[in-house]
Amino acid sequence: MNHELSTMVKFGIIGCGRISHRFMQGLKQVDDASLVTAWSRRPETVKQFVDQYGGKACNSLDELLGSDIDAVYIATLPDSHSAYSIAALKAGKHVLCEKPAAVNLAQLEPVLHLAKTKGLLFMEGMKPPFYPLYKRLKEYLMVDPIGAAGYVRAGSAVMDCPPEHPNYSYDLVGGSIMQIAPYEAFLALDWLGPMTDIQAMGRFSGKQIDMFSIFQTQHKEGYAQLYCGFDLHGKGDALISGPLGHITIHKNWWNPAKATIDYVDGRLVELDEPYVAGGLNYEIEHFCELIRNGKTESPIITHELSRQMIAMLEEARKQVGLKFEGE
Ligand SMILES: NC(=O)c1ccc[n+]([C@@H]2O[C@H](COP(=O)([O-])OP(=O)(O)OC[C@H]3O[C@@H](n4cnc5c(N)ncnc54)[C@H](OP(=O)(O)O)[C@@H]3O)[C@@H](O)[C@H]2O)c1
Repeated sequence: MNHELSTMVKFGIIGCGRISHRFMQGLKQVDDASLVTAWSRRPETVKQFVDQYGGKACNSLDELLGSDIDAVYIATLPDSHSAYSIAALKAGKHVLCEKPAAVNLAQLEPVLHLAKTKGLLFMEGMKPPFYPLYKRLKEYLMVDPIGAAGYVRAGSAVMDCPPEHPNYSYDLVGGSIMQIAPYEAFLALDWLGPMTDIQAMGRFSGKQIDMFSIFQTQHKEGYAQLYCGFDLHGKGDALISGPLGHITIHKNWWNPAKATIDYVDGRLVELDEPYVAGGLNYEIEHFCELIRNGKTESPIITHELSRQMIAMLEEARKQVGLKFEGE
């Protein structure tokens, strides 16, 4: 990290797949942040990527980590997230790592520990809280509250993954709990506080990974009912209930743009806050601001929240019977 030049944040990207394209769409909207280098397992993937977005194609991980960058965006699949986070932190780079940040808690802890000891920023990519709608909703509730939220119901089930998608791969740590439920875990924890209990069920439908799972969780502040899947078409909205009213974050709640607050006294309040540029720009902006301000942890996606999210997914997997290599 070039500590003197604290305005421009120079990124290197590891893994140039689907989400990295969306990251670039967002990055273009962020002031004083740029793509400098990229590396992916297959050279042709990197070449296509830098041809489209600029930056230099690296031939190896070492070349990327040795390049003049401040931060690394890790956008490979979850099997390699913790290893690349550790490599990047060891090389003195800040890390924004796609969700889920690790396969399990045992893999996540050394990443968080290294970030702390190195004094570097580590943040898990968890986009919803940075969207304008989500922020506006929280602000609005400060002045016109629904009371303490006591129930969250949310889920996402998608039918549009092509058969070759890594979501179906056991080796690449796929499955609906690992690939979809990080968002649901975030929502429940954000509104209800730390989880105290979980009951999960899931089915594999002949695959090595869960194709559809549901879990209900007990939290300090209430209960959540969550689902995730690849072989049903789910509704994709979220419900948050309090004693004075309930909120619907309309589909797709993980890319939030519209919400309705339905108060006990009969009032309906509609919030409408479209997002731009694919939505990752808000999370990137936050990450860059943290770097510029010398912060080593996001106050929103804290290390503790990442621990709690992965712990919830790990316990849900244990209950549905999905263990990955080495677990
Ligand atoms: N934040 C969001 O909105 C969002 C949305 C979708 C996905 N995600 C998350 O983003 C991550 C990536 O998902 P995706 O859909 O972008 O997957 P993807 O399209 O398969 O992209 C992953 C890319 O990483 C490269 N790669 C995979 N394993 C690697 C390794 N071990 N070393 C180096 N490069 C490797 C692959 O490129 P080559 O093999 O071609 O080099 C591939 O193109 C997942 O964790 C997913 O959960 C986040």
